[in-house]
Amino acid sequence: MVLNNIERIKAPSKDMFYREYILPQRPVIITNLFDSSSLCQMDTLEKARTELTDIQVQVCPNYIANLLNATSADVPRMMNLCEYFDFLQAQPTSLDICVEYPTPQNLLELLPLNLYQDLSDESDLYSNMFVAGSNNYAHLHYDADQRNVLMFQVFGTKRFILIHPSETHKLDAIDQPNLCRTSGLFLENMSEAEKTDFINYTNAFDVVLYPGETIFMPMMIWHYIEYLEPAMSIAYRLGRNQYNRRLAQLFPAPSVDVQSLSLLLMDETVARSHHTGWLNKLENISSSLHGSESDRLAALNYLCLKIRGQYLGFEPIKSMRELTRRQTILEQATLYS
Ligand SMILES: [Fe+2]
Repeated sequence: MVLNNIERIKAPSKDMFYREYILPQRPVIITNLFDSSSLCQMDTLEKARTELTDIQVQVCPNYIANLLNATSADVPRMMNLCEYFDFLQAQPTSLDICVEYPTPQNLLELLPLNLYQDLSDESDLYSNMFVAGSNNYAHLHYDADQRNVLMFQVFGTKRFILIHPSETHKLDAIDQPNLCRTSGLFLENMSEAEKTDFINYTNAFDVVLYPGETIFMPMMIWHYIEYLEPAMSIAYRLGRNQYNRRLAQLFPAPSVDVQSLSLLLMDETVARSHHTGWLNKLENISSSLHGSESDRLAALNYLCLKIRGQYLGFEPIKSMRELTRRQTILEQATLYS
């Protein structure tokens, strides 16, 4: 049972979108953002198969499933959309997916972003795409780049469960180099009743996105996505302000501390007046430590933990993993200081 607790609205003005949704980091579904684009007409798999046949995409195994089971070929492969649709038809249970693939220019031209593209640095905006069959999923995670995202549903339906970073302490975040930004909780293995309990516990947003609709996913929000049928989406990842961009460049694999700190920088005016001190300090430490990469990271991790405590405080620790993470940061800090 989907909770359906995200508001659906017509596209608001740029100012209103910034004020009412981006700044408060409030997810919303915009029902008509791309109504005049030609991609809006390709709202079924059959139409997409006819009209988008030659679009080249990269297909690879589902990251988490492959990591846990290693059942499918692990080499990404290029094919056109028609070949991929044929593959899904022949192997409907396959978890091979086109994920976060840079949207080919000829496809992007069918979906021009005429509103909101200049809310921030336009040169920093980019687009990627997603296609997969029924029962595929994106494991619960947050993205690294600190961009706000507008995700347009071309055809098929997807369920989105979104969880605000203020709930991170409930999500058993994994902090290994190959699995950072990833929850240790497996919604893909939960029953519907378990999912409902989990959604209530984490105050999550839970919605099904339909063709023609665009969901706004605030930066660094946790997201778990289910493909309810074969589906295709195209995301516009909006340009960042200079402060989020600098923090993202320092941390290509952002910890939960960096996730928290990123939200402090969201409002450019506030970031300029209150947060340039610690950001400069992080950059200085990063560039001044010329020893090993692990020493540099240990210093940065320690500083992030301290800054987070100073500005935001901490929620109670709810997982062994988080306890170990903080103990390790503090232990390593004493080694370099
Ligand atoms: Fe993602």
